Amino acid sequence: MRARVVANVDFAISEIDPRLYGSFIEHLGRAVYSGIYEPGHPTADENGFRGDVIDLVRDLDVPIVRYPGGNFVSAYNWEDGIGPKEDRPVRLDLAWHTSESNEVGIHEFADWAEAAGTEMMLAVNLGSRGLDEARAFVEYVNHPGGTYWSDLRRKNGRETPWNVKMWCLGNEMDGPWQIGQKTADEYGRVAFETAKALRAYDKTLELIVCGSSTPTMPTYPEWEATVLDYTYDSVDFISLHMYFENHEGDLPKFLSLPARLDEYIQTVAGIIRMTKAKKRSKRDVYISFDEWNVWYHSRDQDRATLQGEDGWPFAPPLLEDIYDFADVLQVGAILNTFIRRADVVKVGCLAQLVNVIAPIMTVKDGPAWRQTTFWPYYFASRYGRGTALNLAVDCPGYDSPVAQDVPYVDVSAVLAEDGSLTVFLVNRHETEAIDLDLALQGLSLSQVAMDKVIAGHALDATNGPEGEPVVPVDGTGADITDGRLTAQLAPLSYRMIRLG
Ligand code: AHR
Repeated sequence: MRARVVANVDFAISEIDPRLYGSFIEHLGRAVYSGIYEPGHPTADENGFRGDVIDLVRDLDVPIVRYPGGNFVSAYNWEDGIGPKEDRPVRLDLAWHTSESNEVGIHEFADWAEAAGTEMMLAVNLGSRGLDEARAFVEYVNHPGGTYWSDLRRKNGRETPWNVKMWCLGNEMDGPWQIGQKTADEYGRVAFETAKALRAYDKTLELIVCGSSTPTMPTYPEWEATVLDYTYDSVDFISLHMYFENHEGDLPKFLSLPARLDEYIQTVAGIIRMTKAKKRSKRDVYISFDEWNVWYHSRDQDRATLQGEDGWPFAPPLLEDIYDFADVLQVGAILNTFIRRADVVKVGCLAQLVNVIAPIMTVKDGPAWRQTTFWPYYFASRYGRGTALNLAVDCPGYDSPVAQDVPYVDVSAVLAEDGSLTVFLVNRHETEAIDLDLALQGLSLSQVAMDKVIAGHALDATNGPEGEPVVPVDGTGADITDGRLTAQLAPLSYRMIRLG
């Protein structure tokens, strides 16, 4: 079987916003406590943050991290997390049926973000609270001084403001599970008024309004149309979320789900364009895909805690999916989809970063380790920056209950500023190797600078604290001759080839 691909230097999709490779930390399970924060851990710094986790986050080169939720934010009082730690209240977290000590709040998270070399993207609570708390939070975080909230921040030990640019106006407000769920009209009004107040403070903030929690919501896509009708001229992004499941163990169907993701993005992009035309607006709104991942492995084991059968535990293990080799292929294909839609998807957050549906896991008092899915995220984040190219692809496909003619080879390509081209490939075929023939037009590339492959594992192969068998190895056989890259893609494989 053969896949013919053409990459032409003049056919660009868009510049990739580096924030496409962002991630997410929520006060949920062990993401914060015994994830990023574990005073007393042998690698902990003076603030209690695990150095081994920070090293792995730095390896991933995560440009931005969304915080503090997620569902958690919809009943969160940000003021609980400021001031002396011993005075902070313990609260019930209604979203995850746990207790929250508030030992980590905005000051601590900001210190962690700085140590991890990433930017913060903050969410305000528009579930149980509203505009007033949101504007106070923004003033606390961003105002230099001389006002009640900014002086309180200074008193609490942070003299200079953090100047956070990206603000999420609530989280998944369409979801019946959300504390303070709203109809599209209710949310549209609140989001508009909140955006107005935040913009009155600072016109340069980048504001994100909630879209649908998933494309299977009954209110999708009417939700997007209504919410954007209220907010189009006041926001910069609409947020989309999607999680990928394989409860049936149907691999071809599972691996075809990125086609649904693509349709979701294209539909919302259409609604954005329709609203822009309707409003005769001059501004553009983009998509912030600020929650995405595979999430299903841990659903059963979490049920008792989420239904309250364990009481209100503090930082229990929750959403600790252990990813397998099949998930490497899926995460690789999802990232390819985002690269191919880089003209409308400007921000993406792999949900989440540590312990909770995460590429990085920790053992309390023990080591941190890399899940299988660490790797496709690592390669995209490290080598997927530059300009996304619009590839012409000719490759056989298959039909699944989700989509027709899903190409066996999923591919994206990114042209870096230094002229190198990185090609990300997933072969979805279960048994056949596919011969790749990539014509490079207008690109002066003469050598394979890097070739990394993840292949040949059992579909359910996983990594763990005792060992990481699912890791990239050097690919072989890739060749450039006369402006053509040829390589053989093993069945069920992930591959990244960088040409220089
Ligand atoms: O990432 C886990 C949860 O998934 C988030 O809290 C919520 O926004 C989504 O439903």
